[in-house]
Amino acid sequence: MADATSGPTSPETIRHARALLEAADGVLVLTGAGISAESGVPTFRGAGGLWKDHRPEELATPGAFRRDPRLVWEWYGWRRELVAACTPNAGHRALAGWLARRPDARLCTQNVDGLHGLAALEALADPADSSPAVAPAPILELHGSLFRVRCPECGEETPHREPIDARTRDTLPRCGSCGGILRPAVVWFGEMLPHAVLEEAFAAATRASVALVIGTSALVHPAASLPLVTLEAGGGVIEVNPEPSPLSATAAVSLRGPAGTILPCLLDEGGTR
Ligand code: OAD
Repeated sequence: MADATSGPTSPETIRHARALLEAADGVLVLTGAGISAESGVPTFRGAGGLWKDHRPEELATPGAFRRDPRLVWEWYGWRRELVAACTPNAGHRALAGWLARRPDARLCTQNVDGLHGLAALEALADPADSSPAVAPAPILELHGSLFRVRCPECGEETPHREPIDARTRDTLPRCGSCGGILRPAVVWFGEMLPHAVLEEAFAAATRASVALVIGTSALVHPAASLPLVTLEAGGGVIEVNPEPSPLSATAAVSLRGPAGTILPCLLDEGGTR
């Protein structure tokens, strides 16, 4: 039987991870769909995952958009509505509060749901938090955002939160400059990640002495390479995930549990001591 004082999520293990973070000189934070699961946003893989009922190549590729932009927008419109009804959970909030106290940390996310950004705004406005909050460096959204659109014709990218009318091709959103059918500003299969964002993420991974990796299956590269870069540069990995991932074997600490429970213990000022 597991020893409750030294198991994967025991107070002792969390104290060890807290100590690693406190001693760290630069932290790369990499998040995936798992951190938003407790907000009600579906993950991609596993039971109930988005890719279980949908073929990515029919919905999330440039070819799919060229073939049938209406079908692609129907799916993204549904995802946007679902996500717009979700709010940050205790995991997002603990991370946002901690980032406001750690200017040496950089948040890179594979998520396109915008919930880290909402949690950051809440943290800056929180009157209960007396610690001097600094506006953290911009979040590096490696896979783009559901709430931005880009014109495939002229490249113009803008925020976009209005509901999508995907009844016909003619009702789809159009570019104000050139009239092209706008697409979601997310990274699709077969596409490169935004160059400047990726460059900043790799620089942060190289500088960091700890990579804190939360809620990702760590299967999709180049995002999954970021903690490996920190490891190669001599740093360590702390993983927060109820399930093992390919990173677990090399992680200094694996905290097995949901991010909404683990992160407040790990990151809050009054967390596990
Ligand atoms: P996945 O769906 O692949 O993995 C979600 C991970 O979250 C799994 O490892 C789960 O065990 C873990 N998880 C589930 N619930 C959790 C919780 N409450 N707390 C913490 N962890 C939890 O999602 P990603 O790794 O984000 O790319 O997927 C990476 C990329 O694959 C996505 O960004 C997307 C997809 O194809 C694009 O669309 C470009």
